[in-house]
Amino acid sequence: MGEGRGEKGTQRGVVGRRRSAAHPRSLPRTDVDWWKHYFDAGYEREYEPLFDLVEDRRQVARIVELLELPAGSRVLDLACGQGRHAHLLAEAGFNVDGLDLSPYLIARAKERGTGRTLRYRRGDMRKLPATWSGRFDAVVNLFTSFGFFADARDDARVLRECARVLKPGGVMLWQGGSRDGVMARFLASDWWTTRDGTMIAQDRSFDPLTGFLTITSVWQRKSAVERREHRIRLYTASRMAELMLEAGLVVEQAWESFTDRPLSRRSSEMLLVARRER
Ligand SMILES: C[S@@+](CC[C@H](N)C(=O)[O-])C[C@H]1O[C@@H](n2cnc3c(N)ncnc32)[C@H](O)[C@@H]1O
Repeated sequence: MGEGRGEKGTQRGVVGRRRSAAHPRSLPRTDVDWWKHYFDAGYEREYEPLFDLVEDRRQVARIVELLELPAGSRVLDLACGQGRHAHLLAEAGFNVDGLDLSPYLIARAKERGTGRTLRYRRGDMRKLPATWSGRFDAVVNLFTSFGFFADARDDARVLRECARVLKPGGVMLWQGGSRDGVMARFLASDWWTTRDGTMIAQDRSFDPLTGFLTITSVWQRKSAVERREHRIRLYTASRMAELMLEAGLVVEQAWESFTDRPLSRRSSEMLLVARRER
């Protein structure tokens, strides 16, 4: 999310065009715990052009291909959001749990349906239920649902939790922004219009020391102006692989997001397939 998918989105405007009206004079410092409240109806609206059932199906088809698991396997969608992938993974024959911190998005996920093979619960990815140790054949973490925390040790903790809840030999599939690619084609600003006519303009800045990409969004509809800010710590594939290894997860494959192209230094998104050591 928000790392600068310049190649994406037909509803986007001219990349880099500046806005003049209603651009805020001063912006608030990013709240370090922004992730506790950011994922609400506003998030769904802001990223609306990227939420598309046809695209979700395409992504899930690729996930199924890469997981190579039999029907009935237990899959955890960690930070599942509004259940875009979880419900399709259940439809594909897996036994799925979705976990997310946002009550709003969990409620949205449940609207897509729940059942014997699809359950949702609220929780923090840094501390998964104790009863889940060794439970899952696969854990998926998608759409840069990672790198949110002020303390980078919390990101490492998430990976340790993923390893703990996987069965030995289980698969972790991680998809999100790739620092190398985002830097290679840095998109400092971007705008698009949502279906209801709201213009959303994003400005992005990057701090090389912390690795935080800070994204400021300004929404404008008629005379109403709103602004939101969030930040994501971006990792390179090699750093992710190191962190995963420290957690007991060995990266076996690296792809350019959901495509079948190998990850390159210019890929703004990556997909890593790792296996829990036996
Ligand atoms: C970028 S969204 C992606 C959601 C989903 N994976 C998708 O592809 O649509 C990131 C998700 O992480 C969730 N999240 C943020 N902090 C979290 C935490 N500490 N524990 C669990 N989920 C969290 C948010 O609520 C949000 O649903």
